[in-house]
Amino acid sequence: MDGVMEVDRLDRELDALRALLGSQAVLLGDDIPARNCNDWSATPPQVPRAVVRPLDAAGVAAAVKACRRVGLPFVPQGGLTGLCRGAAPELGWVAISTERMVGIEEIDPTSATMTVKAGTPLQVIQQAADHAGLFFPLDLGSRGSCAIGGNLSTNAGGNRVIRYGMTRELVLGLEVVLPDGTVITNLNKLLKNNAGYDLKHLFIGSEGTLGIITRVVLRLFAKPRSTMTALCALADYPAVLRFLDAARVGLGPLLSAFEVMWSDYWEVITTRAGVRPPIASGGQIYVLVEAQGADEAADAPRFQDWLEDTMERGLLVDAVVSQSLAQTQGLWAVRDICSEFGQVLGPHISYDIGLSVARMDEFATRCKAALAAAIPGCESVYYGHIADGNLHLVSWVHGLTVERQPKEEMDAIVYGLVRDVGGSISAEHGIGTAKKKWLGHARSETEIALMRTLKAALDPEGLLNPGKVI
Ligand code: FAD
Ligand code: LAC
Ligand code: ZN
Repeated sequence: MDGVMEVDRLDRELDALRALLGSQAVLLGDDIPARNCNDWSATPPQVPRAVVRPLDAAGVAAAVKACRRVGLPFVPQGGLTGLCRGAAPELGWVAISTERMVGIEEIDPTSATMTVKAGTPLQVIQQAADHAGLFFPLDLGSRGSCAIGGNLSTNAGGNRVIRYGMTRELVLGLEVVLPDGTVITNLNKLLKNNAGYDLKHLFIGSEGTLGIITRVVLRLFAKPRSTMTALCALADYPAVLRFLDAARVGLGPLLSAFEVMWSDYWEVITTRAGVRPPIASGGQIYVLVEAQGADEAADAPRFQDWLEDTMERGLLVDAVVSQSLAQTQGLWAVRDICSEFGQVLGPHISYDIGLSVARMDEFATRCKAALAAAIPGCESVYYGHIADGNLHLVSWVHGLTVERQPKEEMDAIVYGLVRDVGGSISAEHGIGTAKKKWLGHARSETEIALMRTLKAALDPEGLLNPGKVI
C-alpha cells in the first residue's frame, strides 16, 4: 500500500473516531500537549501522530480497532510520571490516554472496596477513601499526578509496601481492553476467587504491553487512628539493620514505612535543595520510620517508649519524633524532596535496584566508587525503601545535558554490580525501554521467552506499545 493512501486512511480513521467519541477525544498537530510526548524519564520527547482520550472501555476499544485497521502502533498513557519511557510514544504512534477517564464509581464499605476509572489520580483515590472513613495505602511521591491505571500497569511500590504490599496486593478486579479491541470486564470484589487463572495479574505490572486497563476494583483498609513518625540518625549501616529488626519486633504490624537515606543524599538535600534538616547532621545514615495503629491514645506513648529503648540500646545517634501533622509532613518532605532532583542536580539518571537488605550498603559503597573511578566527574547519591529490598540511586556528571550524560557507561557499572549481587534491575519502576537492554541481568532466557510467548498470544500484530519491556 502506498504512503499517500496510508495517510488518507489514517486521517479518515481519526475523523471517524472524532465523530464517534467527540471533538475533545482526538487531538492532532499543534493541539497535542507537550505532556503527552514523554514521561518523567528525562529522555528526548517524541510527538505522537494523535492523542486519543476516550471516556470508557468502549471508546478505548474503538481507538484500538481504528489503529489496527491502519496498522498503527498505540501506547497507553496514564499520569505520565513513569521513569522508564513506558508511556512515551514513538514517532507516528497514537497515544491512548486515560486522562478523561476519571472518577470513583463506587465505594462499598461492606466489601471494603472502591471501583474507579483508570485515569483517576492516586491522591484523589486516597482522599476519597479517607472521606469514607477508610484507607487506601498505596503512596508514592508522584501521588498528585500518577493515575491508578498507571500504578497497576507498573505494579507501583512506594512507601508502605512493608505493611500492605505492592499495588498487585491491592487489586481485586479490573476491566481491560485487549490489543484486538475485546473488552474483558472482571470487576471482582471477592478476596478469594480461585476460579481458574487469575487473569488480572497478567495486566498488573506489564507496563501497558498486554492490554489497556479502563476500570479497577481496589481493596480498602481500616483507617489508621494514629500515625507516629520519627527521623533518626544512625552511625552506620549495621546499626540500620539492627534498627530494622528492632522495628519489626517492637512495632510489629504497626510498622508502615522504613525509608533510608545515605549521607550523600542528606548532604545534597540539606546543602543544595534548601531543606532545613529537622535533625542535627551527626549521623552517617538516616532512617524515616513510620508506624500506624488503631489506638489513638496508646500508640503514641508506645512508639515513644520503643524509640527511647532503641536509643538506650545504642542503636541511634539522634532522633526526632513528630508531634503534629505539620511536623510529620516536614519529616516526609526530607524523603519526598527527591522529586525535585531535576531542578536541584540538573540532568541525571535514576536507578531502582532490588537487592537483599543485608547487601545494600556494600552495593552503595561499591557502586559509588566504581562510578567515580570510571567516569570523570560522576557523582551519585543513595536512598530507598530499604526494608523492601529496594535501593534508589541517581547519578550524574555536573554540567552535561541529559543527552550527553554517560548513561550507557553508568548502566553498565550499576547493572553489572546488580548481577554480581544477584539483584534486580528494577524493584518497582519497571523496564519500559530505559532498562530493556539489561533485562537479561535479572531474568533468565527462558523467562524472557515465556514473556514473548504471552505477548505474541495477546498481541500477535505487535501494535500495543511495541518494543517496551521485552
Ligand atoms: P504512566 O507513566 O502514564 O505509564 C506507566 C506505564 O504504564 C507505561 O508503560 C504505560 O504505557 C502504562 N499504562 C499507563 N496507564 C495504563 C493503563 N490504563 N492501562 C495499561 N497500561 C497503562 N514508582 C514507584 O513504584 N514507587 C515510588 O515510590 C515512586 N515514586 C515516584 C516519585 C516521583 C516524584 C515520580 C515522578 C515517579 C515515581 N514513581 C514511583 C514512578 C511512577 O510514578 C509510577 O511508576 C506510577 O505508577 C506511574 O503511573 P502513571 O499513571 O504516571 O503511569
Ligand atoms: C522514590 C521513587 C523514585 O521512592 O521511586 O522516591
Ligand atoms: Zn521508590
